[in-house]
Amino acid sequence: MQDNNTSVNDPPAAKTVIFYYTGTGNSLWIARTLAQEFGNTELISMTDSDINPDEIDAQVIGLVFPVHIWGVPGRVLGYLDQLREMSPQYIFAVANNAGQVANTLVQLRKVMESKGMKLSSGWSVVLPSNYIPWGGPGSVKKQNKLFAAAGIKVSAIARGVLNRVEQPVEKGPLWERLLFTWIYNYSLPYVPRMDEKFRVDERCNNCGICIELCPVNNIVMQDNRLIWQNQCEQCLACIQWCPKEALQYGKRTAKFARYHHPEVKMKDLLRK
Ligand SMILES: Cc1cc2nc3c(=O)[nH]c(=O)nc-3n(C[C@H](O)[C@H](O)[C@H](O)COP(=O)(O)O)c2cc1C
Repeated sequence: MQDNNTSVNDPPAAKTVIFYYTGTGNSLWIARTLAQEFGNTELISMTDSDINPDEIDAQVIGLVFPVHIWGVPGRVLGYLDQLREMSPQYIFAVANNAGQVANTLVQLRKVMESKGMKLSSGWSVVLPSNYIPWGGPGSVKKQNKLFAAAGIKVSAIARGVLNRVEQPVEKGPLWERLLFTWIYNYSLPYVPRMDEKFRVDERCNNCGICIELCPVNNIVMQDNRLIWQNQCEQCLACIQWCPKEALQYGKRTAKFARYHHPEVKMKDLLRK
């Protein structure tokens, strides 16, 4: 939303670019909501491969992404070298999560510092969980409560960014940060092969939507069989968006509800 007090004499909004990464749309919804509040904002998916950092001319850059295994997804870390080349005046990050941001934003700040960049503010937004191996997203009532609280938080983030606040990043309790950082570091090398637990059940009609959705082109069809090629990022877009709910991960997912953000459509995520 534009500021209602904006007048014709106000200076134009600073050019902002928000890079987002998303499996089920929560991050895209946050990025879109921020863009509406900022004005003059371009949204770029971190899965777009044809970005030329030299052509990005933004005073403000935002990174909006989900927390994965209590830390920063590998794809986001891989994006930081490009970000350095863009030399914006202000960088902020929003790590959205299902309630355990843990050390994610501290990790991001430290990696950025090691690359000579400053993270001026880092925010946590809680939204429904898309980690289906552990369960569904919760009742609609619970989801709506989270959406309402997230809307208020995103407005506060927008105000903070517009005021260029410099503040410590948000983080979880110490025990969570210590324990889960250890698990994150241990797990990260295994993520590409975690797709070995995907399978399809009899409802699969070979529509190929999972192939189109996978941001890393990790799924192929061979002899009418879907094959995951061990380059998985665990975004879980394939299992969450399958129109037949025919994809499963491990033994328990058949009984859990699928999730995507209600204001985000499948076409918004299809690979370009
Ligand atoms: C592989 C994976 C790991 C996750 N790990 C965490 C976590 O450590 N803490 C947490 O609160 N949520 C975790 N989540 C939940 C997501 O961060 C959360 O649902 C997020 O809003 C999804 O955003 P997206 O729709 O933009 O992908 C995880 C989700 C996935 C797929």
